[in-house]
Amino acid sequence: MALERTLVLFKPDALQRGLVGRILTRFEEKGLRLIGLKLRQFSRAQIERHYEVHKERPFYPKLVQFMTSAPVVALALEGKDAIEVTRTLMGATNSRKALPGTIRGDLGMSFSNNLVHGSDGPEAAQRELALFFPEPGELVQWTPCNLEWLYSVAEELA
Ligand code: RTP
Ligand code: MG
Repeated sequence: MALERTLVLFKPDALQRGLVGRILTRFEEKGLRLIGLKLRQFSRAQIERHYEVHKERPFYPKLVQFMTSAPVVALALEGKDAIEVTRTLMGATNSRKALPGTIRGDLGMSFSNNLVHGSDGPEAAQRELALFFPEPGELVQWTPCNLEWLYSVAEELA
């Protein structure tokens, strides 16, 4: 498939700091297609599963505590190279080191409370999308009216 899908989470600090709209705008303006969106206070079990690759890491308990401390916004995004594009927009994990122009670089100061999550590869994306959007039909297929201006369609989406 020419287009890739990825899961993005706006972490509790994004909601608490009133940055949901601004962060969503970054993804929209970039041209990533919004195909799923929900706001939930996710269960501990769900967040533990989401971050299970980090289960043995020292920061894991604090990460789970943080991610369940307030609601989280889950997005499914679609686009050419959506996973890499999303990670680039997010910036480095440590917000203090993230470059200006990135979401973390522009809007945060913390390593742990770093505003956003993005899947880090195709397998992670598939697993995480299934975890946060499990019901059939939750992800919406639609064609943006500006698609032919956003991409060189014949060249990039064939
Ligand atoms: P994410 O999974 O949330 O998209 O972030 P990431 O790939 O940039 O970073 P990752 O290494 O996967 O770590 C997951 C999240 O755990 C928290 N963390 N804190 N204080 C620390 O040493 C530390 N290390 C990781 C961050 O919230 C990080 O995004
Ligand atoms: Mg990660």
